[in-house]
Amino acid sequence: MQEEKITRENIRKFVMQFYAKIIKDDIVGPFFIAKLGKDMKSDMWQEHLEVIVVFWTSLAFGNPRYTGQLFLPHTRLGDVKRETFEQWLKLFGETLDRIYVPKVSALFKERAALIAGNFMRNLGL
Ligand code: HEM
Repeated sequence: MQEEKITRENIRKFVMQFYAKIIKDDIVGPFFIAKLGKDMKSDMWQEHLEVIVVFWTSLAFGNPRYTGQLFLPHTRLGDVKRETFEQWLKLFGETLDRIYVPKVSALFKERAALIAGNFMRNLGL
């Protein structure tokens, strides 16, 4: 059954499922593998996944726990294109739709699309 309420636990579940898709994806996967390696059980990956859980939890609950530098790592991705961001958003949306009811899913999609739009604009894509 799809979730109607956002909780820390279902955000964690969402992030894990999203990244399981990401790492297997031919368009987006290589950018993550180049930075973090292939082994999602490594300390580097675990740290990244934790940051991502905190990031989405902060946005969902409007609390300021996420204090990272959101834009910076995305300026060092190498040959990233609009297509890469579009694929990221597609995988993000597909994962959301499996976990949340459409109303909740739409909230996250909207936030992600805004941020991805800012990244692309700032990167001149
Ligand atoms: C083309 C699409 C994207 C690619 C390839 C990508 C890749 C990456 C990589 C490689 C890192 C750095 C990992 C590290 O060095 O620890 C990162 C960090 C991060 N990304 Fe993305 N990303 C993409 C889009 C997005 C979007 C659209 C969002 C948000 C809506 C996002 C949110 C984050 C956050 C929160 C971090 C952690 C930053 C920190 O260290 O505080 N990313 N991303």
